[in-house]
Amino acid sequence: MVPRVAWTAQRPTYREARRAVIDAALRRAQRRPTGNWFVFAASRDVRAGRPLGARVAGVELVAWRDRRGGLRVGPGGCPHLGADLATGIVRDGVLFCRWHGLALDGDGCEFGWRPVPAYDDGVLAWVRLDAVGGEAPLDAPVIPGRPDGAALAAVTRVDGSCEPCDVIANRLDPWHGAWFHPYSFTRLEVLTTPTDEDDRFLVSVTFRMGRFGVPVIAEFTTPDARTVLMRIVEGEGTGSVVETHATPTGPGPDGRPGVAVVEATVATSQRPGFAVARRAAPLITPLMRHAAARLWRDDLVYAERRYRVRTGGR
Ligand code: FES
Ligand SMILES: [Fe+2]
Repeated sequence: MVPRVAWTAQRPTYREARRAVIDAALRRAQRRPTGNWFVFAASRDVRAGRPLGARVAGVELVAWRDRRGGLRVGPGGCPHLGADLATGIVRDGVLFCRWHGLALDGDGCEFGWRPVPAYDDGVLAWVRLDAVGGEAPLDAPVIPGRPDGAALAAVTRVDGSCEPCDVIANRLDPWHGAWFHPYSFTRLEVLTTPTDEDDRFLVSVTFRMGRFGVPVIAEFTTPDARTVLMRIVEGEGTGSVVETHATPTGPGPDGRPGVAVVEATVATSQRPGFAVARRAAPLITPLMRHAAARLWRDDLVYAERRYRVRTGGR
């Protein structure tokens, strides 16, 4: 049971939540290579038989499954007269343009359409855009270690108006947890803050489930410049991770930068019977809750506000 504490009676965290600590952690994160890889969807959203459209840093893309179920990604505009290939039809792993039937098997075509490198890690679908990223390309994206065995994965996405660094900075401020999300977190204590030598936050927190609470210790790291990884290191669901990936989508109609926040929760539990998802569900609810709509919206509001503050509303 979690004792009821009035919201205003919580211990304030603004003294510990120092901008210099957050900014330094963000700067270190931004130096970590991405290899120009961007998460653009959940793997299971790229289904057999139908194309999926995506936009990454203003680049229109189309993704589909080839004959062997492999992920294919390329420019979203048809090289013939520019039809939106995401409205095309996939037959036998071949993408047909709706306008005049140009067939793309994913290997390029006479009009010069060329695929771009794509990677399916089993949970998330990635694309490599070297012209956009401008870093030295890597053969594969940086995939944080995920729990193996009977793990449950859930992916959610929200879109907002800010830059990826604003999303990352929000996640690198663990101190806002119990104040800003009192419905989800309580008894939050930042145990260690990141340094050059040990670049992680260690946070003791209780996930709220109504009147009940699940205490855990969580570690926050930044495996690449656009990803924050939360891993439960002690307590229920040890080994479970929540990966937050921030992908630029390109300017919106108002000219502000668009961002897609794609969050993958890969939950595990040491309890017997975890493999049976339905029985395990109540145990991992708190983790899955991290991806709950309310928490998400609030964090995006934080990130968007941070963007406006630092850019003076531009
Ligand atoms: S526009 Fe695609 S085949 Fe003509
Ligand atoms: Fe938050």
